[in-house]
Amino acid sequence: MSSDNTLLNEINRRRTFAIISHPDAGKTTLTEKLLLYGGAIRLAGAVKGRKAQKHAVSDWMEIEKQRGISVTSSVMQFEYEGFHINILDTPGHQDFSEDTYRTLVAADSAVMLIDGAKGVEAQTIKLFHVCRMRGIPIFTFINKMDRFCKDPFELMEEIENTLGIRSCPMNWPIGNGVDFKGVYNRSKAQIELFENSGHGQNIVASEVGSVGDEHFREVIGDKLYDKLCEDIELLDMAGDPFDLEKVKRGELTPLYFGSAMTNFGVQPFLEDFLRLAPPPSAHKSDIGEIAPDSDEFSGFIFKIQANMNPAHRDRIAFMRICSGKFEKDMMVKQMRTGKTIKLSQPQQFLAQDRNAVEEAYAGDIIGLFDPGIFKIGDTLCSPKLNFNFEGIPMFPAEHFANVSIKDAMKRKQFLKGMEQISQEGAIQLFKRPDAAYETLIVGVVGVLQLEVLEYRLKNEYGVNIIIERLPFTYARWTEPGNLTPDQLGFTGDAMLVTDQYQRQVVLFANQWIMNRIENNNPDIKFLEIPPVYKE
Ligand code: G4P
Repeated sequence: MSSDNTLLNEINRRRTFAIISHPDAGKTTLTEKLLLYGGAIRLAGAVKGRKAQKHAVSDWMEIEKQRGISVTSSVMQFEYEGFHINILDTPGHQDFSEDTYRTLVAADSAVMLIDGAKGVEAQTIKLFHVCRMRGIPIFTFINKMDRFCKDPFELMEEIENTLGIRSCPMNWPIGNGVDFKGVYNRSKAQIELFENSGHGQNIVASEVGSVGDEHFREVIGDKLYDKLCEDIELLDMAGDPFDLEKVKRGELTPLYFGSAMTNFGVQPFLEDFLRLAPPPSAHKSDIGEIAPDSDEFSGFIFKIQANMNPAHRDRIAFMRICSGKFEKDMMVKQMRTGKTIKLSQPQQFLAQDRNAVEEAYAGDIIGLFDPGIFKIGDTLCSPKLNFNFEGIPMFPAEHFANVSIKDAMKRKQFLKGMEQISQEGAIQLFKRPDAAYETLIVGVVGVLQLEVLEYRLKNEYGVNIIIERLPFTYARWTEPGNLTPDQLGFTGDAMLVTDQYQRQVVLFANQWIMNRIENNNPDIKFLEIPPVYKE
């Protein structure tokens, strides 16, 4: 542990989190409101041009420009009331990919954003499970309260039933839809009145320190007041009390109701979140946990973003700093190769700008110029240290395709391109034991990754490919890896392949066939995720 107070203070004021949600729940809108509070976006007008803004934030790949969407995730940093905030963006629309999952490995907490009218949706469930696996605290913001939403008790039940986590409402909505009046803040015993002006909230404080203040009756009317008293009484009696330790362990999620678009409830949420969310915590390594306030620097690469400049094939490797202080041009050891390398041209990201970094601390995310030397999962640390951080898991691909070349003469470039792109973690590569090397099977988490692959092979490697979608939706690693084709039962709904590290994998078309083959082969384990990236 460090005796350096500056280091400790710097680490303790850092909050590094990701916003997880289903497309259209309002993540972009909420992120922009947060950036607005941090002064990272100055003009309110920037919010209006939201789509253009979204585009500008990570306008790095040509394909993004064509489609106006963000293919790869990025990180945004800003300061707010003494806190240094890193928001990790988790791409959501068709651009959902392994990067979305991997980003969560670099976060210390997550904000789960739910559309109040729709409740818990598919993509939120997937991302929630990754956060769960990591045991990070999850704060929930129920958005779009200015519209007609589901009943708040129903939403709480849905969160518990679909996600298996209890929730503790920190505020409570008053009215619904056109009758929405605002929220009752339970800890402050005040009503935050909703005004659709985009300027935050008017506060009506309680004189008696409880929801029972008759003054509230005048403000919101008899009907809503009686209902509010009833609801709060029920929550006080039967609801889970707020318990920070449970929140920290990811067992209880604090629940906030608001509306990002009208800027209602965003600032109180941000302030509560910054107070309650944890600063950077220890990270697991093969020699035990590494404390963030250790004097020596360490970090790991969790994402590699290609094509910043297609002419040079340069890449940006995103590093999460896990301990100590980072300084520009510092020499670090890359554990995988044992080489000492100079970290030059480090960058941080402030809304749409990239800034050179002079120094950074545990909890921060920085982008490193990568001439092709980094791999996802690489540990970088002070030359005095000697350990590897726990590997970054591979996340289950859900779409598979046969990929082959149009021109057999381009075989070498094809294999090189496929290898490099898979090293960046943009695709998972598989091969049929009997297939020619000109045909590989690609697994991806989101289908857009296949389009990105086609585009990149053509533009960066000069290779035209043919993509034929395969009917599989699940991949399982076998243990021990000795399943025979006979044991699969000669069905077209399952296929034996190997991954890049020659491990045996079975691809299944559906859950039913997977269950049948698993039941027929009780001596074989079918693993969803291979433990770590291996050389
Ligand atoms: P995403 O990044 O999660 O995909 O969502 P995004 O912020 O793009 O928001 C999706 C839509 O929901 C947008 O409408 C946005 O304006 C709207 N929205 C976000 N927060 C709120 C809210 O608190 N209340 C209401 N009523 N709507 C909200 P859009 O019509 O798709 O885009 P735009 O025309 O508003 O730009």
